[in-house]
Amino acid sequence: MPKFVITGGAKLSGQIAVCGAKNSALKIIPASILSEKPITIKNLPMIEDVDRSLELLESLGAVITKIKGGVIIDTKKIKTTELDQKMADKFRGSIMFVGPMLARFGEVKFPHPGGCVIGASGRPIDLFIEGYKAFGAEVDEKSEHFYHIKAKKLQPANYFFPIVSVTATESMLMTASIIPGKTILKNCAMEPEIEALADYLNKQGAKIKGAGSPTITIIGTKKLKAGIFNVIPDRIETGSFAILAAASNSEIKITHCNPEHIMTLLAIFKKIGVNFEVGHDFIKINKSGKLIACDIKTHEYPGFATDLQSPYVVLMTQVHGTSLIHETIYDGRLIWTDMLSQMGANISMCDPHRIIVNGPTKLHGKHLISPDLRAGIALVIAGLISEGKTEIDNIYQIDRGYEHLETRLQQIGANIKRID
Ligand code: EPU
Repeated sequence: MPKFVITGGAKLSGQIAVCGAKNSALKIIPASILSEKPITIKNLPMIEDVDRSLELLESLGAVITKIKGGVIIDTKKIKTTELDQKMADKFRGSIMFVGPMLARFGEVKFPHPGGCVIGASGRPIDLFIEGYKAFGAEVDEKSEHFYHIKAKKLQPANYFFPIVSVTATESMLMTASIIPGKTILKNCAMEPEIEALADYLNKQGAKIKGAGSPTITIIGTKKLKAGIFNVIPDRIETGSFAILAAASNSEIKITHCNPEHIMTLLAIFKKIGVNFEVGHDFIKINKSGKLIACDIKTHEYPGFATDLQSPYVVLMTQVHGTSLIHETIYDGRLIWTDMLSQMGANISMCDPHRIIVNGPTKLHGKHLISPDLRAGIALVIAGLISEGKTEIDNIYQIDRGYEHLETRLQQIGANIKRID
């Protein structure tokens, strides 16, 4: 199994470009099912989760043609309404196929989706199921882990999400886009990837208003046209690189990004003393003086992203003072900090949702196993600022969301190698 070997302490500087957003690409690929016409996706990140998503689509009968920086997808000849169990089990994004399949074919069979183990309750899909029922679908849970959903005729819905959920919002949005009539969704998530998805569907002929706000109105249309989608920059990658630069006190320009999408992190950077400049599509982190600790509480967008919590914890080990990190979205997303403690961090766990970090502390290299995607990037950042050698196993988890990470980090001076 491949692993990363990092020799910490190398001087970092230069430019690093941000790739297309994983969590946008993973919605646009299944959105192609909504139309019988081809869709061209550009700025597609070359990451494992995207490969899994394309494989799943191909297994349904879609034709995928690779082009420079993306793909053309033709779903006209989809031949089955059952998602391959082994493939769907590999990543959480497989749940995004369900809404479009149901909307186009009136039926879908699928297993409970896999993905990062970051919730003790196993990352439920109850909101999706409730949502499809609101459209008039019947749900047969064949076994605990396998579902069969069908509908003679789907109806538009008036639905209030009991919990704010990114993927459930996107799933209902996609489904409603080809159900004739007016659907109103309330208490929606507001992430930029949702707005991007709605903009794309609108260009294809859907009539969606309010995406990016808590209430979304969709006037469904029977058929969507062919379309082109440019995947928006990955805001989590942007934030991860910005945190790496701040934690290593390096001068790094992060390009091809949208700073508007990480305003909460940048506001905290200001507060703790990080010196940076922002342009239309770049963030330049400069060398800073003494950085001071700051508490965070993760929150749905535009609050502090749960996906940036783990890199932020690494930063807090390098600043002066005590910070309380409160993870509100997932109950398993702080367990990895035990590894950071093994590297020398001074962290106390209050309960599964809260830790206290005392800084600054020197970190030293360790042999570690990446437990999930975002903890994985945090361990890479920790390794890069540590004394000595860090080895990280199970880097499939990191490859799921970061394209050619070691090559891009090497270009800014990092001493990181992939060993197969
Ligand atoms: N939830 C339910 N029932 C559901 C769905 C969600 O109770 O049916 C709960 C979750 O357990 C969680 C909360 O609702 O406590 C919010 O989760 P949400 O549904 O918003 O998360 P998600 O849509 O599954 C997406 C991203 C995650 C990101 C979260 C929060 C994708 C494919 N995944 O997940 O990304 O952390 O939103 O921003 O878009 C990652 O990229 O590493 C990642 C985990």
